[in-house]
Amino acid sequence: MAPQRRAGSRTPESGGAGAGARAEERRRLSSGVKGSVQKDSRRKWLKVAFLLSSAMLGYLLSGSYLLGEDGVTEVLAHQGESLQYKFIEVPCSEDYDSHKRFEGCTPRKCGRGITDAIISREEAERIRRIAEKGLSLGGSDGGASILDLHSGALSLGKHFVNMYRYFSDKVHDTFTEEDFHLYRDVRQRIQQKIALTFGISSSSMYLTKPTFFSRINNSEAKTAHDEYWHPHIDKVTYGSFDYTSLLYLSDYTEDFGGGRFVFMDEGANRTVEPRAGRVSFFTSGSENLHHVEKVHWGTRYAITISFTCNPDHGIGDPVLT
Ligand SMILES: *[C@@H]1O[C@H](CO)[C@@H](O)[C@H](O)[C@H]1NC(C)=O
Ligand SMILES: *[C@@H]1O[C@H](CO)[C@@H](O)[C@H](O)[C@H]1NC(C)=O
Repeated sequence: MAPQRRAGSRTPESGGAGAGARAEERRRLSSGVKGSVQKDSRRKWLKVAFLLSSAMLGYLLSGSYLLGEDGVTEVLAHQGESLQYKFIEVPCSEDYDSHKRFEGCTPRKCGRGITDAIISREEAERIRRIAEKGLSLGGSDGGASILDLHSGALSLGKHFVNMYRYFSDKVHDTFTEEDFHLYRDVRQRIQQKIALTFGISSSSMYLTKPTFFSRINNSEAKTAHDEYWHPHIDKVTYGSFDYTSLLYLSDYTEDFGGGRFVFMDEGANRTVEPRAGRVSFFTSGSENLHHVEKVHWGTRYAITISFTCNPDHGIGDPVLT
């Protein structure tokens, strides 16, 4: 009944407006030209403002700058993009001063580099298979397992064993000379990239320990060794480190969730999203405080390759004995 009454009341009202309303309309039309021009330009500006704010929103949502509840403020490298090379310089901390300096190697320039261009995705897959084979011999009871081909250290239950001794009969059936050759080749290319980036000679830096494969899933930690997610400084944890590199062997959001690498700067958390074949490298001092997010699902494979400037802390490439 209410709609009917409204419809009914409309006719007398518009009819009652009569000639007076039409005269009013003419007046408005003649004096309204200026008004409508103003209205038009206002509309144009509103449109521009709208487009600008949508573009801004798109930029924010695209993830270059995200102020998410997960504490991530900036993504340095997305999983979906193939980065030729990116370097971000940060001032060196004083951590290097408390160690013996090696001119031509000890960092004078500090920072972080990321490249998807030196290890192919196909090579990363072959390296991941080496990790899978080795880790299938052991594995931690908790969510984080490691395999160090140099020392032979392999997670097994709540401990580590020396794979070369513990599985001496199996090691030769597990790995091939080719595996070790590829491992060496990849290590060399990463070392050269680091040297080039920081303006040092590749021959003045040495592989150091620990250098290891890691396999992380979402199983609950059983020992402190499973707790990979704590913020840390490599040079504080391992005094010998000067340059740390990571080669990712699986893809964030495709193979696992969580597990992003986070540089924790004052006022910003800057992430590197793992991508198979992606190399991320950085100077090991407290200018590069970082942590790895907990893995929520799936399995994350990576290899940590560390370098020192002190030849006394150098180690050799692994050999299939
Ligand atoms: C995680 O890996 C461990 C071996 O390190 C395995 O025992 C466990 O079943 C895995 N958990 C999941 C959820 O896949
Ligand atoms: C960085 O992330 C941590 C948690 O991972 C959070 O506590 C901290 O507030 C974040 N920092 C910034 C500046 O967002």
